[in-house]
Amino acid sequence: MTEAGADILECNFSCPHMAGDGLGSDVGQNPELVAKYTKAVRKGTHLPILAKMTPNIGNMEIPAYAAVEAGATGIAAINTIKSIMNINLKTYCSGPDVDGKSSVGGYSGKAVKPIALRFIHDMKTYDKLSNTPISGMGGIETWRDAAEFIALGCENLQITTAVMQYGYRIIDDLIDGMKLYLSSQGFHEIKELVGKGLPKIVPADKLDRDSIFYPKFHREKCIGCGRCYISCFDGGHQAIIVEKDTGKPILQANKCVGCHLCVSVCPVSAILPGKRMQIG
Ligand SMILES: Cc1cc2nc3c(=O)[nH]c(=O)nc-3n(C[C@H](O)[C@H](O)[C@H](O)COP(=O)(O)O)c2cc1C
Repeated sequence: MTEAGADILECNFSCPHMAGDGLGSDVGQNPELVAKYTKAVRKGTHLPILAKMTPNIGNMEIPAYAAVEAGATGIAAINTIKSIMNINLKTYCSGPDVDGKSSVGGYSGKAVKPIALRFIHDMKTYDKLSNTPISGMGGIETWRDAAEFIALGCENLQITTAVMQYGYRIIDDLIDGMKLYLSSQGFHEIKELVGKGLPKIVPADKLDRDSIFYPKFHREKCIGCGRCYISCFDGGHQAIIVEKDTGKPILQANKCVGCHLCVSVCPVSAILPGKRMQIG
């Protein structure tokens, strides 16, 4: 590949479809194998090497660091997530149905983005990897998705599923949207966005637990559908009552814990985050 003129080599240590021990995502789950294969590739090239990690693991930073120690220049993440898509309730076969049988396979696209972002965060905040370049992927479809990966420290991005779904034209839309976003934020170069979101993610015990962030109801926008009431009553803290004539919600602040379930279910954005108040 070096002789053929490649710019970068990416080692796929993470394919979930390989049969046989020590292959595919088995490699990415085993730091010794990652190191062994990375060293072998490093011996044969002067090119930058990316080690592509599997998300079918708890702590990606461990095999990722093994790759870097063994000579990888950067990390690519994430590959697909081992999944079963569905069960056909007539045939009892999952998809894709290959002559009546299926396998555990790799899940990708929009739904995996939060998982990809979590792994990228974990690697970028791991001391020994904080300066290692990451090529981020997993569910990128739009400029917003791309900007989120960059804000968590990725300097390079890859897209697979969205291009399969919509074609390369999404890249033009992505570039246009990204340019507009960067200028609206006052950035001159995309580099200025890299890692902006990292300091905002802290361990859960460092979050402010001594205040409540109350929701604010915008009555003029409310259509009285009752979804906030039902969600709060059945899944929350029974902190909303409904006005008899209009069906519009009234908050009982003494019961509200600030979970914002009502904010997330309102179909017309009539409930927004309101005031944060100290408690105790
Ligand atoms: C149909 C399909 C084939 C793939 N083949 C490969 C492959 O040969 N090598 C590899 O490293 N990753 C492969 N991937 C994983 C993608 O490169 C990517 O890591 C993953 O799908 C997450 O990104 P996405 O949500 O943009 O697809 C494949 C993904 C899909 C959906």
